[in-house]
Amino acid sequence: MKRSVIDTVDLSVEEVRQLLDTAMDIIADPAKYAHACAGKKLATLFFEPSTRTRMSFEAAMYELGGNVISMTDAGTSSAAKGETVADTAKVVSNYVDIIAQRHPKAGAALVAAANASIPVINAGDGGHCHPTQTFADLLTIYREHGNMNGLTIGFCGDLLYGRTVHSLMAAMARYEGTRFVLISPEELRVPRHLIEDVVESAGIPCEEVTSLEEALPKLDVLYMTRIQKERFDDPAQYERLKNVYVLDAEKMKLAKPDCIVMHPLPRVDEIAVEVDDDPRARYFEQTLNGKYMRMALILKLLGWDGQSLTGAKEPAETYPGGPFSLWTIAEEDPAYKCGNPKCICAAERSIRHKYYIAKDGSRRCVYCEQ
Ligand code: NCD
Repeated sequence: MKRSVIDTVDLSVEEVRQLLDTAMDIIADPAKYAHACAGKKLATLFFEPSTRTRMSFEAAMYELGGNVISMTDAGTSSAAKGETVADTAKVVSNYVDIIAQRHPKAGAALVAAANASIPVINAGDGGHCHPTQTFADLLTIYREHGNMNGLTIGFCGDLLYGRTVHSLMAAMARYEGTRFVLISPEELRVPRHLIEDVVESAGIPCEEVTSLEEALPKLDVLYMTRIQKERFDDPAQYERLKNVYVLDAEKMKLAKPDCIVMHPLPRVDEIAVEVDDDPRARYFEQTLNGKYMRMALILKLLGWDGQSLTGAKEPAETYPGGPFSLWTIAEEDPAYKCGNPKCICAAERSIRHKYYIAKDGSRRCVYCEQ
């Protein structure tokens, strides 16, 4: 099993720092990297819609001199015949050198990584994680502030299903002086396990509020998110919540002069178009930064040593402790069943349910972490 990235924290803080350095070097001298991945292929396996993530992965591989094979619609692949994520990963490993996969079920990326013989990058697994969006976000913050320390970051919108929020929280919790303000309706609060594992365990000062206006003056970074229609079981609940937060020019008057506004995009109505002209808006820069960080990540996982690709060497056991490393401590018990309907375990019968013991002693599904 080669090294894969399911969430940002599968890389150490030092490794994230190296990715940022590589991305900055790519920006400064793209010609140096133009043939770095010559002869290598990336497969983008997208079982769920995407514009930025897939296209920036593909642009990244082309700009590294590599090639891309793409599955953009699960309906045209053997998934439509009932092929599992595990089998797909084994098959695609025979054709390419690295996989970027997006799937609507939490844990699908870990299933792919555990079955592929090549590195797998999680390009979003249901409401669980989205590490490469976080890498884009970190580069955006880094280019703004020069480091990641001492920031009050407000997350606003769908914090329950927002995988970009979950991954960025886990990443930011590792930097000194981070403070969180979590702005959401009651129904869309950050999942409890994340509060325990990420916020409380790191002792991060954190407030949960419902008012964007109240939160805005405190923030160095406002991270807006879309209320995600596709993740709701009850359409009426979506209708009720969809326009709960709308950032407009009037509200921006409440923000600090240097508070940047980020959003993973796509936006629907939660950021008025007029905010695009505000010099604090950074959401379109994020999309470009995503390409550079995906280039840096592909290089890292294929073993770039600064001159050439040497092949990734690290064994699974040395991983620093993110979801991918949970695989190495996963336990099985025929009596254990993951009960989360949004987990890959619920979607594919062939998966052997596995758990790990959380800090509070409870059993958590290794795939969805619930
Ligand atoms: C996000 C995602 O897919 O989670 N988009 C993205 O990758 N930039 C956010 C969203 O879909 O709302």
